[in-house]
Amino acid sequence: MDVYEAVKSRRAVRRFTDRDIPKEVLERVLSAAAWSPSGSNLQPWNTYVVTGAALAELKKRAGKRVAAHGPWDEREYEMYPPELKSPYRERRSAFGHERYSALGIADGDWEAAQRAASANWDCFGAPAALFCYIDRDLGVPQWADVGMYLQTIMLLLRGEGLHSCTQMAWSVYRKTVAEILNPPKGLILFCGMSIGYEDVREPYMRTGRAPLNETVTFVDSTSQRLAQTARDDLLLDV
Ligand SMILES: Cc1cc2nc3c(=O)[nH]c(=O)nc-3n(C[C@H](O)[C@H](O)[C@H](O)COP(=O)(O)O)c2cc1C
Repeated sequence: MDVYEAVKSRRAVRRFTDRDIPKEVLERVLSAAAWSPSGSNLQPWNTYVVTGAALAELKKRAGKRVAAHGPWDEREYEMYPPELKSPYRERRSAFGHERYSALGIADGDWEAAQRAASANWDCFGAPAALFCYIDRDLGVPQWADVGMYLQTIMLLLRGEGLHSCTQMAWSVYRKTVAEILNPPKGLILFCGMSIGYEDVREPYMRTGRAPLNETVTFVDSTSQRLAQTARDDLLLDV
């Protein structure tokens, strides 16, 4: 699959069929994803791939917690700042509208949205999930490395005809995940990722993106944004 096609066809899929994924496919994807870049090649990702009875047990335990409406595990990192400022606040509410209106849930119907969101802890029906941990002693640049690694996995999955959904939602049930995976104490669970074949019957609305000029600034010799001194330097260089 062409790289552009992989990037554009990747989206957060939230309903999977129960078709199993051959282990060789997951091994191929994760072996290739290991070539992701990271600062000084630290490779700060620690990945657990969960399928079969282990995943069924995890879903069962998480499902019990969802049904009990008990408290979430205390956070090891903040998913978002408590006060999201503009333009992030508006983008987040646009996402909420796209995500839930496709399911027939009205804006502001938090209960229905919460019910739909609880499918996170069933991995949206996926037959495979991965859980990505990072060493708690590592810093912001290493978290960014992990993000690149996860995106590489998602694109490779597209190349295999598979889809995925990255899920920070699992961080609020991190203790349940730890019961199954038993990770070393020094690791923080960043996120889960559900993996599988898309169930195309699930309605969805493609999430939009900000126009290019909102997030990208091209700076060249004609740009208004180029400081006069820098522009003079450039002209001297010619
Ligand atoms: C780090 C990360 C965590 C995410 N966590 C969740 C999650 O817990 N549950 C969920 O349904 N989607 C989750 N998503 C998916 C985002 O909502 C989605 O990527 C975003 O809205 C853009 O839509 P798209 O991926 O379909 O293009 C997450 C995505 C990322 C990158």
